[in-house]
Amino acid sequence: MEERASGRGRLSLAGPGRRARAAGPPPGRPPAHHLEVVRERRNEGIGTQLLRAAEQRLHTKGHRRVALGVNLDNHAAQRLYSRLGYTEWPHGKLATTETVYHPGGRRELRPEVCLVMVRHLG
Ligand SMILES: CC(C)(COP(=O)(O)OP(=O)(O)OC[C@H]1O[C@@H](n2cnc3c(N)ncnc32)[C@H](O)[C@@H]1OP(=O)(O)O)[C@@H](O)C(=O)NCCC(=O)NCCS
Repeated sequence: MEERASGRGRLSLAGPGRRARAAGPPPGRPPAHHLEVVRERRNEGIGTQLLRAAEQRLHTKGHRRVALGVNLDNHAAQRLYSRLGYTEWPHGKLATTETVYHPGGRRELRPEVCLVMVRHLG
């Protein structure tokens, strides 16, 4: 798992030999994990730029498809992904876990069902 933080947004990627926590997407679709833009800088195109930059990086590394999971009621994120060419994969919803961050740094894993969206790169 690789994380990049710029102070404006962050995106973690699973790379070759590194598994994302959500086991589901088949080989060839590296899962993108946790895209988030600080609240006060949303709706400026930063999420779009982060995702495009991540896709370009994955493409450069030889990946031809990317998959990501999104909460069923996260319509803002689903709109973003649809606009960028992602479509729901044909295998149904995915049971996974979400990480909840508590004050003080404690992390809690909770069961979550998500929609998996995929896109061909290049
Ligand atoms: C989902 C998320 C990452 C999107 O990030 P973002 O930086 O706001 O994304 P963008 O700015 O690229 O696009 C969001 C909206 O702003 C609009 N927008 C982009 N640039 C704009 C600009 N310069 N002026 C006005 N609107 C703009 C986009 O058209 C889009 O509109 P829509 O809501 O109608 O689809 C952000 O909302 C977030 O961090 N959410 C909480 C965490 C989360 O849910 N992550 C996803 C987990 S799967």
